Amino acid sequence: MDVRQELVKLAESKPELAYLVRESLEAVDRSGTLLEIEGARLAILGKKGRVSEIFKHLSEVPAEDRPEIGRVANMLRRYVEAELARKSEELKESDAEAMQKRQALDVTLPGRRAPVGRKHLLTQVIEEVTSIFISLGYWIESGPEAELDYYNFEALNTPAYHPSRSLLDTFYIMKNEPDKNSPDDVLLRTHTSPVQVRVMESRTPPLYVVSPGKAYRREAIDATHTAMFYQVEGFAVDRGIHMGHLKGTLEVVARKLFGSERRVRFRPDFFPFTEPSAEVDVSCHVCEGKGCALCKGIGWLEILGCGMIDPNVFEYVGYDPEEYTGFAFGMGIERIAMLKYGIEDIRLFYENDVRFLRQF
Ligand code: DAH
Repeated sequence: MDVRQELVKLAESKPELAYLVRESLEAVDRSGTLLEIEGARLAILGKKGRVSEIFKHLSEVPAEDRPEIGRVANMLRRYVEAELARKSEELKESDAEAMQKRQALDVTLPGRRAPVGRKHLLTQVIEEVTSIFISLGYWIESGPEAELDYYNFEALNTPAYHPSRSLLDTFYIMKNEPDKNSPDDVLLRTHTSPVQVRVMESRTPPLYVVSPGKAYRREAIDATHTAMFYQVEGFAVDRGIHMGHLKGTLEVVARKLFGSERRVRFRPDFFPFTEPSAEVDVSCHVCEGKGCALCKGIGWLEILGCGMIDPNVFEYVGYDPEEYTGFAFGMGIERIAMLKYGIEDIRLFYENDVRFLRQF
């Protein structure tokens, strides 16, 4: 039995002491600060404290009980003294520890650096491409991603039977008739070309415009296809614009993007909204044109489609094709980024794995 238990037991056998002892023990237990410890010491061991009180009233109890009561009172005093001393020692120790810790804090050390974020690679490439065009005197325009059939297809001279209109390629938001295309159907734009029509409709030439943004297609996702991707559209409309301006402009841009050692070629192609149309290829950076997995053995990577704006498009926006001519182009941003940095899977752009993104 420890001192405390013994004390309680003894006090219980003397009902006149039980209350004083229990109250004293509780006062000791409650004291958690140096100030409270000092308070408890005064209340129990002080001149007018509990212990003195017991001794003061000793003469009032029967003589045969006095030794026992005196023993309990002395025991209580010793216990309280020891317990309070132990408690205050403990507090002083933890105080000293805290002090030491405070001294261990070197305020002259440099602070911890918060991790700094960065722009997503696609944002970086968009900014690089658009800034090249801005340096050539172009300005930026944008258009809605939820677009009318009229701007995405119709006014871009894309007739109703054109294969790119098939439900397989386009996400429709609102279709007026299930099996028929209508100019006021609402869809997710399949390219950024509708911005051409919107800008031409609301402005008059000269126009030198770039328009970066998202486009959507119903694609099966693989290493080179995603259902949402970025394009940068560009076009120039002015008096006397001809294909030499288009070639010269794109050659400058391709070399600024990929370095002067890259070769560029123009292949005839077809787009409904340009005539003539061309596909522009850049020599493959992985194999230097010898043929590899990235370029599928061709040695060239297609970076954009372009052409001279079809007079039919000018008719839609009310421009006189005899007065104005223009060129247009559209490039895939992911494709440009893949080429520039040797990235072989388009899905990496959208997985948001910081170990990938941090590299750029
Ligand atoms: N809109 C075309 C596409 O998404 C790219 C394109 C080709 C844009 C020729 C043009 C252009 O402005 O003249 O594949």
